[in-house]
Amino acid sequence: MLTGKTILMGITGSVAAYKSAELVSQLVKCGAQVEVVLTRAAQEFVSPLTFASLTGRQTWTEMFAPGPTPIPHIRLAEQAEAVLIAPATAHVVGRLAHGLADDLLTTLVLATRAPVIVAPAMNVQMYRHRAVQDNLERLKALGYHVMAPGSGWLACGAVGEGRLPEPETILAVLEEVLGAGTELSGRKVLITAGGTREPLDPVRYIGNRSSGKMGYAVAEVALEMGAEVVLITAPTALAPPSGAVVIPVETAAEMYQAVLEHFPGVDIVFKAAAVADYRPVKAASQKIKKQGQPLIVELAPTPDILAELGRRKTRQILVGFAAETHDLLDSGQRKLAEKNLDLLVANDVTRPGAGFGSDTNIVTLIFADGSVKELPQLGKKEVARRILAEVVKMVDKE
Ligand code: CTP
Repeated sequence: MLTGKTILMGITGSVAAYKSAELVSQLVKCGAQVEVVLTRAAQEFVSPLTFASLTGRQTWTEMFAPGPTPIPHIRLAEQAEAVLIAPATAHVVGRLAHGLADDLLTTLVLATRAPVIVAPAMNVQMYRHRAVQDNLERLKALGYHVMAPGSGWLACGAVGEGRLPEPETILAVLEEVLGAGTELSGRKVLITAGGTREPLDPVRYIGNRSSGKMGYAVAEVALEMGAEVVLITAPTALAPPSGAVVIPVETAAEMYQAVLEHFPGVDIVFKAAAVADYRPVKAASQKIKKQGQPLIVELAPTPDILAELGRRKTRQILVGFAAETHDLLDSGQRKLAEKNLDLLVANDVTRPGAGFGSDTNIVTLIFADGSVKELPQLGKKEVARRILAEVVKMVDKE
């Protein structure tokens, strides 16, 4: 899998940098073309000569090097099929999380379109520091593949998490990233997931039972098929899939705005979120106190996001989801037509093994040409695979 692939390997200033020599050596043995970039701090631990000797290529250290390649970051960024930063220090994680580009490595990470894998290595307390954890979360939300560090004895004498993962573990992740399918490569996919929350006051909201599992499964499968994924998600208890650009929202109005902003640039939309149909007309600015009387809350309709996409769609394939408790087929067909969808995934949430919170689902696929496919009870990831397989056929027909 690595044969002939151009891997850009960024090495930063952690003592674990010495292990990168072994990693680079293994990559070269696997037939990869490895371009090594050392940050200034990395050079305190390891020498450019080590990597030039292992790769048979120049080791890159300077942003503004005179010579035949005056702006190496653009060429390196374009050629890379994957970028691997191992070890990644707390400092480089922070710089990447905030889009800073003050040296060759951070600049080319901004300039590349290749997947970026980040393998942090640092002292355990540094790793656990809220700032570092926030930055790692930010990187995940930006679509970076962030590896969990290994646990054990650290060079500083402490014991805990923070070790650079073993070369085999890093190579396995690299192969997984490079081995992503190609069914949807070059396609941009927008997915919404989770249940929106409509505030009543600063501490309460009207919500629903959506767990987000179906939408997240669709996001994972789309990534596995090589798509670029934007996941617009209402709150869930799930970890976002690595590699997706994640945009958190709370209310139907926020989701509406985020979805419409991204819609013109995408090819396929999966609208798996359970969007509130109504919101309190006014969210109280202070906590509502109980008064021993019935409380009447006036609700106003929220915009139907999917219906709006149906009106605006040009080339996009639109997939809607409907949770029903009765008349599944009639109601599904009506929604598909009203919202101008290409596919509606309908499920009867009253059936055991289907719907909210469950790990499995039983869905019926309703197509724009009137055809219908009933799927058996399947894990949500498998349901996602079946849905994506149908959509890939539509994309291929275009
Ligand atoms: N949807 C949306 N915006 C809304 C409501 C729903 O985008 N304000 C999307 C959902 O993400 C889902 C589909 O529309 O893909 C569900 O449609 P629908 O069943 O009409 O929503 P419900 O609220 O369940 O409709 P109804 O109450 O009529 O059953």
